[in-house]
Amino acid sequence: MSAFARKDGVLHAEAVSLDDIASRFGTPCWVYSRQALEAALAEFEHELAGYDSLVCYAVKANSNLAVLDVFARRGAGFDIVSAGELKRALAAGADRQKIVFSGVGKTAGEIELALSTGILCFNVESAAELERLDALAGKLGRRAPISLRVNPDVDAKTHPYVSTGLKENKFGVAYDDALALYRQARRLAHLEISGIDCHIGSQLLDPAPFAEALDKVLVLVDQLAAEGIVLQHIDLGGGLGIRYRDEEAPTVRAYLLPMLEKLKARHLKILLEPGRRLVGNAGLLLTRVEYLKPGEVKNFAIVDAAMNDLARPALYGSWHDIVAVTPRTGTTLPWDIVGPVCESGDFLGRGRELALAAGDLLAIMSAGAYSMSMSSNYNSRPRAAEVMVDGAQAHLVRRRETVEELYALERRLP
Ligand code: LLP
Repeated sequence: MSAFARKDGVLHAEAVSLDDIASRFGTPCWVYSRQALEAALAEFEHELAGYDSLVCYAVKANSNLAVLDVFARRGAGFDIVSAGELKRALAAGADRQKIVFSGVGKTAGEIELALSTGILCFNVESAAELERLDALAGKLGRRAPISLRVNPDVDAKTHPYVSTGLKENKFGVAYDDALALYRQARRLAHLEISGIDCHIGSQLLDPAPFAEALDKVLVLVDQLAAEGIVLQHIDLGGGLGIRYRDEEAPTVRAYLLPMLEKLKARHLKILLEPGRRLVGNAGLLLTRVEYLKPGEVKNFAIVDAAMNDLARPALYGSWHDIVAVTPRTGTTLPWDIVGPVCESGDFLGRGRELALAAGDLLAIMSAGAYSMSMSSNYNSRPRAAEVMVDGAQAHLVRRRETVEELYALERRLP
């Protein structure tokens, strides 16, 4: 059963009505379901049972401490891409030995922090990073566990902005350079070769490219073994898509099974870095209609959430389902659901058939991933509150920002 369902016509998060949440915490407001988060992780755990494996949640998808805590308590690891995400994961109770560090631009400061923390692995993305990591590990008297993020040059067939496994993308080391780089890593005294890694893109709806990428990576694993470089783990990245509208998102089983088939005879620990799949459909954005502005060509419903809260529609043209918390009877009209921000790109949905009145509450669905974590303060709009529902309880897990906080770091000229 979905964590967001109607009871007596009113949309609820688990046992709490969104009406109640709006009156307690105000709008706009992010609402997450603990049950949905746990169910999403459980799907992975179930399919991986019996395998030496670790699910490292990609923190960037939703980095609220309460979300991280839900996963940490179940034993998940974390995929981080910055010192900020590392500190968040640790603050949420993450096991440092279950943290992998991805990203093309790790600074010296970030690497030192991760080295002194003692994380599981650095997913190295270039020859230059390999050198830097070796030097910094030497300076701190440590050995850095590494895997190389290999770019397998497969087409993930997803939105070009979130496709990462093609030669033209900035990510990872070129497939043809990987062997030479592993040889180089072996020569560097302060590195410990631990694994191999690949991540080909996000919101993938077809399991085939994952398996294709894995085949290519396994060729490398064998070539490395022939040279005496024996890897401990293979990191398959993230990328499994979710349903936003009517997409047929594969089950976790359909995604994993072809890969597990290829891996079962091997002694490699399996790491995964899912983000969206764990949180995307566990969250929504609750917003209130401020004004209705029907017009000759378009009807605008102006709501109190905007592109600074949820950037995905403006940024990628993404589609998020938009539903009334308490649907009204009466004539529907096609509404453009827009925010108060001064940009024509400030829309959350276009041409949505709804019966609306000013003051109505709307839920923008599938807003658990890359939503709050990509929000901004554009137009000096404080970030919205975040609420996590757990059964009949609604917990405020991030209070609404105040306007004063937005300029607290600024100073007028002397
Ligand atoms: N691992 C690495 C190295 C990544 O770069 C990413 C996402 C993930 C794992 C998690 O991927 P997921 O399982 O969530 O697909 N802002 C975009 C998505 C950007 C994805 C960036 N990397 C969006 O809103 O669709």
